[in-house]
Amino acid sequence: MREEDWRSLVELEHSFVGDDLFLATKDDDQEKISFDKTWANLSETVKECQKCSLCDTRNHTVFGEGDVNAKLFFVGEAPGKDEDLSGKPFVGRAGKLLTKMIIAMGLQREDVFIANILKCRPPDNRNPSSEEIEKCVPYLKRQISIIQPKILCTLGSFATKTLLEEETPISKLRGKVYSYEGVSLVPTFHPAYLLRNASMKAKAWQDLQLVMKLLDTR
Ligand code: URA
Repeated sequence: MREEDWRSLVELEHSFVGDDLFLATKDDDQEKISFDKTWANLSETVKECQKCSLCDTRNHTVFGEGDVNAKLFFVGEAPGKDEDLSGKPFVGRAGKLLTKMIIAMGLQREDVFIANILKCRPPDNRNPSSEEIEKCVPYLKRQISIIQPKILCTLGSFATKTLLEEETPISKLRGKVYSYEGVSLVPTFHPAYLLRNASMKAKAWQDLQLVMKLLDTR
C-alpha cells in the first residue's frame, strides 16, 4: 500500500471512531437529560400534590432521597414529625437505626434509595388510611419504575402489604424473597418496631443478610 493511501485510511478510520464516540456521548447525554427531566417532574408533582387531606397538615412532602441509580431501594411507611419538618425520609430515631442497618450491610445511606408509601405525614403519626395509600402509592410505584432497583426492602407491615397486596402479618412474610413487578422484594421489620422490640433485631439482620446475598448475585 502506498504511504499516502495508508495515511488516508488511518485518517478515515479515526474520523469514524471519533464520530462513534461523539454519537455515543450525545446519546448518553440525551438519556441523562430526559431522566433528570422525568425525575424533576415527578418530584415537582409530589411537592404540589393535593390528592388527599394530608396536604392541609403537612409542613413538607417527603419525596425520598439517595442514589437514583441504586440497586437497593428501602420502602418505609410514612414521614413522622422529623421527616415532615425536614422534608427528608428516615431522619428521626427510627431513621438513625435504619442508617446503622445500612452501614452494617457495608453500604452508606448515599448508596441506596429511601422512600415511603406516603409522601406526607399523617397527623399524630396515625396509621395511613387505605384511601391515602391508594392516592399516594402511584408516586412510589413510579419512583420504582424509574430507578429500576434490583432489590426492594420493605420496612414493616404497611410497605410490605401494600406492594405485595397481601394481608399476612409481616412476622409471617419476612425471611423470604418475593417479586414486585419483576423486582426481588425482601420484607423486614420496621426500624421503629425494632426500637421497641430489640429481640427482633436478629431476625431483621437475617433479612438484611438475605438482601446482601441477592445484591451479590444479581
Ligand atoms: N418511618 C417511616 O416509615 N418513614 C420515615 O421516613 C420515618 C419514619
